[in-house]
Amino acid sequence: TGPTTPTEGGQITTDKFAFAFDIDGVLIRGGQVIPEAIQAMKMLNGQNTYNIKVPYIFVTNGGGKTEEERCIQLSNQLQLEVSPGQFICGHTPMRDLAAKYKTVLVVGGDGDKCRQVAQGYGFKDVITPGDIIKDNTDTTPFRKLTEEEYNHSVKRNYGEIEIEAIFVFADSRDWAGDQQIILDLCMSKNGRLGTRSATFDEGPPVFFAHNDVIWATSHAFSRIGMGALRASLEAMFKAITGKELKTVAFGKPQMGTFEFATRLLQQWRKDTHGINQPPDTVYFVGDTPESDIRGTNEFDESDRSTCDWHSILVKTGVYQDGTEPRFKPKKTVTNVFESVQYGMQREY
Ligand code: G3P
Ligand code: MG
Repeated sequence: TGPTTPTEGGQITTDKFAFAFDIDGVLIRGGQVIPEAIQAMKMLNGQNTYNIKVPYIFVTNGGGKTEEERCIQLSNQLQLEVSPGQFICGHTPMRDLAAKYKTVLVVGGDGDKCRQVAQGYGFKDVITPGDIIKDNTDTTPFRKLTEEEYNHSVKRNYGEIEIEAIFVFADSRDWAGDQQIILDLCMSKNGRLGTRSATFDEGPPVFFAHNDVIWATSHAFSRIGMGALRASLEAMFKAITGKELKTVAFGKPQMGTFEFATRLLQQWRKDTHGINQPPDTVYFVGDTPESDIRGTNEFDESDRSTCDWHSILVKTGVYQDGTEPRFKPKKTVTNVFESVQYGMQREY
């Protein structure tokens, strides 16, 4: 194999290949680390017979916290330091839209966390469903704010405010209430609550952090996720107005996310390993054929990728052994440790 870059420990960091990991169903499941993930990370960090280190990044569709907070959590789970410089979550690329939209509705996640994420991205005026319910408790007949929600919600006259865009950052904790408010805005004139469009095509755009219909949690079977909420919202809009609601999803399998990941990996390899050229191969390890494998394969086949993107499917998450994945990986392995072994063996 080709040239490598020396590091202080005497070990060398390869510039030939890198890894990108999905998180849920690959490294973590239901908040608990998948044990082979710790072994896999050790192998990448030099515990291998080739005496090399391999750069890697994390690309998750999950979110609901700042990238910094997610990295602290992941560092504890994986027992190594994970930096925001090697981490993208579903909503990370949404930060680019802060320059375009000032007043936005941000949906999903625990407490007031997603408001803080959006403000951190530079969105100037961030409104949450709780704010709207606080202003008008008739908005959601079966949802009353908890004391905590009430305290961090901001009461304003939302009928006077134009909400320019809607961002679903993380899974909704209250589908009925959140969908009611999103529908009200989609049916409004220019995002003004309390108005109804005659044509139902004047509402603000709706962006989802990702489109995973299901995801791997602590339950034996996959659970419904943000993509399910998206499908539900579009179906309800159609049922009520007779019109199509066109929403936009970020995250995997979107090409933009893989381009973002390419730039992140390039910067990470440069800043931490002094490598200034693209790798030959990125091994992408995921558990969801529809997002991880589809995205990796389509990016690899497109003229937007600058190297080979090699898809590896694990059996520890959404994909169930014995079924036929809708999108075929280059390689299927039992778990994430085997994916690292596979990649290294393929290189040497
Ligand atoms: O909500 C997160 C989930 O849909 C997927 O996360 O890490 O498997 O991309 P991940
Ligand atoms: Mg996953």
